[in-house]
Amino acid sequence: MPRGGPGAAWWDRLYETDRLEYLDRADAADRRRRALRGLARLERLTLAHRTFGGPVLDLLRDVPRPRFLELGAGDGGLTRWVLDRHPAARATVSDLAPDLVEALRAGPLGRHGRATVARLDATAIDAPDGSYDLAVFCQSLHHLPPRGAADLLREGTRVARRLLIVDVWRHPACLAAVPLMLLCGGYAQAHDGVVSLRKAYSPAALRHLAGGCGAPVALRTRFLPPLYLAAVAARRA
Ligand SMILES: C[S@@+](CC[C@H](N)C(=O)[O-])C[C@H]1O[C@@H](n2cnc3c(N)ncnc32)[C@H](O)[C@@H]1O
Repeated sequence: MPRGGPGAAWWDRLYETDRLEYLDRADAADRRRRALRGLARLERLTLAHRTFGGPVLDLLRDVPRPRFLELGAGDGGLTRWVLDRHPAARATVSDLAPDLVEALRAGPLGRHGRATVARLDATAIDAPDGSYDLAVFCQSLHHLPPRGAADLLREGTRVARRLLIVDVWRHPACLAAVPLMLLCGGYAQAHDGVVSLRKAYSPAALRHLAGGCGAPVALRTRFLPPLYLAAVAARRA
């Protein structure tokens, strides 16, 4: 299925790319490190944790002592932001990449009284049903092929009552952000940023994937300013 959805326009299919990001390449360790540093700088400059953390806090608001799972957490900045602002929340912060999980264990979240660090695959989550109130997958969905994205929708809504996905909005106009990416992270970050924008899933694609993920998953999507898609998925009763 095209990333723009089953009915994607011809220009959207041309815009799509199958190029790998440095973040996905074990053979480009230096560029991968630079891309990650650049992403962290971009997130600080654009107050991205506030942008992503707002919907997380909204979804945790009705739960007295929420259990929260971050998948694909990278440097764990979002989980730190949420724990700082929600004194009763407990978090499991995870990633698939072993080096990033090691860095999380060695950093502040590894010593945090309300955080647990784990290595988890978002497409096959090693946790019992209903373990969490909320699972979050942020700026990471475009790394997964359609089959993996469908697995995430099924698995995320199995282990958590709700799954929040935040990723870049699929539209060529978002390429206007490339100069800022270059400024923050140089070539490696701009490269990965452009690939991310061209691999992002549209709301129509996500709805199609939810419909075929093998579980009864209901999905709501919305535009999250300045250039993100927020989707909340949950199992139908
Ligand atoms: C662009 S980074 C985003 C990191 C962080 N969420 C953020 O917003 O800064 C994408 C992350 O997804 C992780 N990732 C990719 N595939 C994954 C999978 N199947 N399960 C869990 N994490 C995955 C990568 O290791 C990487 O840390």
